[in-house]
Amino acid sequence: MYIEELRLDNYRNFKDLRLEFDKGINMVLGKNAAGKTNILECVYLLSRGRSFRTSRLNEIINYDEDSFFAYIKAVRNSGEFSIRYGLDREGKKQARINGMDIAKNSELLGNLYTILFIPEDMYIVKGNPEQRRNFIDEVLLQIRPNYRYDLMRYYRTLKQRNNLLKNIAKKPSLRYTLYSWDEQLTGYGLKIAGMRSRFVNILSKTAADIHKNLSGGEMLDIKYIVNFGNNKDDYAELMKAAADRDIAYGLTTIGPHRDDIRILLDGKEARSYSSQGQQKTIALGLKLSEIQIVKNEIGESPIFLLDDVFSELDDDRKGFVIDNIKGMQSLITANEVYLKGDWNEIRPGVI
Ligand SMILES: Nc1ncnc2c1ncn2[C@@H]1O[C@H](COP(=O)(O)OP(=O)(O)OP(=O)(O)O)[C@@H](O)[C@H]1O
Ligand SMILES: [Mg+2]
Repeated sequence: MYIEELRLDNYRNFKDLRLEFDKGINMVLGKNAAGKTNILECVYLLSRGRSFRTSRLNEIINYDEDSFFAYIKAVRNSGEFSIRYGLDREGKKQARINGMDIAKNSELLGNLYTILFIPEDMYIVKGNPEQRRNFIDEVLLQIRPNYRYDLMRYYRTLKQRNNLLKNIAKKPSLRYTLYSWDEQLTGYGLKIAGMRSRFVNILSKTAADIHKNLSGGEMLDIKYIVNFGNNKDDYAELMKAAADRDIAYGLTTIGPHRDDIRILLDGKEARSYSSQGQQKTIALGLKLSEIQIVKNEIGESPIFLLDDVFSELDDDRKGFVIDNIKGMQSLITANEVYLKGDWNEIRPGVI
């Protein structure tokens, strides 16, 4: 899959920009504040219906204007398609796939497939469990259309249960109502954890191979760690056992919203023992693995978006990345590249 054309209208610092991309590697070059990350943000937005820079999309509208538009023309196995997205200061949006209006941003998912790698992805290894769960969820949202619904239902039910816990603390006679929520929550929870752990099993195998090559022999192992036992009965038992604590905290302490992904390098916890360089290599390997997995799932390559990471890699790793992304489209930002290569160079805003 590849993008042919991108058009931006009052999108952040770009008043009017039109870019054409090659099917292979596209180096997006320019000085600080040239708008390189903004271009990746825009592609990501049209791919996922949300930004990786902000949760308030109206921030994207150019300071001097009242609305922004973004348009992408892309090609996948089944043919050409287009995505258009616009938003004004009143919050009115216009989103279209192939000229057909869509109601929700999430409907953009599953059209333009992208894998994003940004410096913050270092936190997949050394950050908190939430950052690791998000990393998994982000891929699952793209490749499993039902996952979003299960995740939404789970978090909605979780919120209702947490409200109830707070009410029970004030009025203990309500306690008997808790168990009906538990039943629902464990149902959705098991689905989510099941999808995540199956995905992590596949990821672990792919990432182990890639990491071995990238690092010259280190063994990587990734495991999904559930905090509610092995089955529905364990889960229900643990929920019951935690009820007093949950009421005291006003929070549900058991469930996939507290799960973690354990990353081991040569048998040791990478979060605590690996060097910065090793952590960076793991994160890179994980992203390259995601590309493989998405490719297997959808039968064609997603588009790789690499922000600011490339220039920090040593020449060996740069070469490894280039080898791994041959035959797919990538947009790679850098201030400047000092090595020559077979790629298309784009300097946004410079004529
Ligand atoms: N809503 C907006 N309207 C106008 N300009 C904006 C808006 N939002 C952000 N900008 C500007 O966009 C500029 C470019 O941002 P961007 O982060 O894309 O640069 P960059 O090329 O990635 O730089 P760096 O190399 O430092 O990462 C910033 O200077 C910022 O002030
Ligand atoms: Mg940037």
